[in-house]
Amino acid sequence: MFKRKKRRGPPAGSGLLCSGAPAVPPASWQDALNPYGDRFDPAVERARATNPAEAAFFAQDDRIATKWHHYLEIYDRHLSRYRGKPVRVLELGVYQGGSLQMWRRYFGPEAVIHGLDINGGCRQIEDEQPDLRLHLGSQADQALLKRIVEEMGGIDVVIDDAGHVSPEQILSFETLYPLMAPDGVYIVEDLHASYWPEFGGGLRAPGAFMEYAKHLLDRLHARYVLEPEPFTRDPGFADATHGIAFYDSMVVFERRRKPSPRSLTVGRRTLS
Ligand SMILES: C[S@@+](CC[C@H](N)C(=O)[O-])C[C@H]1O[C@@H](n2cnc3c(N)ncnc32)[C@H](O)[C@@H]1O
Repeated sequence: MFKRKKRRGPPAGSGLLCSGAPAVPPASWQDALNPYGDRFDPAVERARATNPAEAAFFAQDDRIATKWHHYLEIYDRHLSRYRGKPVRVLELGVYQGGSLQMWRRYFGPEAVIHGLDINGGCRQIEDEQPDLRLHLGSQADQALLKRIVEEMGGIDVVIDDAGHVSPEQILSFETLYPLMAPDGVYIVEDLHASYWPEFGGGLRAPGAFMEYAKHLLDRLHARYVLEPEPFTRDPGFADATHGIAFYDSMVVFERRRKPSPRSLTVGRRTLS
């Protein structure tokens, strides 16, 4: 008699598009990132840019900016309507200042561009280029975030590229999202960190930003939930949110005032 081999792998029903994972997971989050390091020629990339965000990024030859390539198309998909407008943009996490310069190139001269970073050295960016407003402090400082929004006179776009620590990302989101323009866009990037304990995350770990975002996906559908618990059926988030887009390492929240969705039917004929 052959002994039946015990089947290992994902539970039934979750194997869609499985291709076989490497047997050994990355030893650390640094190992997970290293294989992705890439060399490129900015001039070549600029010449074959397929959207204005790519063009703006590869034109950056002053201060250093660091973005994952696939983010550029996603930015343009969600932010292109703001180009050439007096859009109010806040980037959490400024690093060397290149991304703020890139946003200026992308959005144009009318944009109000603010950055927040915990590194006091970033002050230099504003000293050199006063059309970029710099705030020093932590993305977890809710009072500071509120003051920044007040100074900006409201806020249309948030790009969270700061500490990538889940509890801080959640704090920033909970503070800023309700203060945004009704049609604002909130982007949280580098969410691979949401799978790493060093950043307050882990696969399906309570408190990881990705878990929080999945929970918001349920709240987007709150008015269809049959459970009696009132919080799960509270449509407040759904009323203010048009959609949530999940990408590799990035989640985009699109605000839009949305009272009860309407189900519509047109036409006259039915099947005979
Ligand atoms: C990934 S870098 C930002 C990269 C930049 N946005 C770019 O595209 O070039 C992260 C930055 O976040 C800052 N940072 C880390 N923790 C922070 C926190 N709690 N609040 C604000 N900034 C923080 C770091 O000092 C660093 O400059």
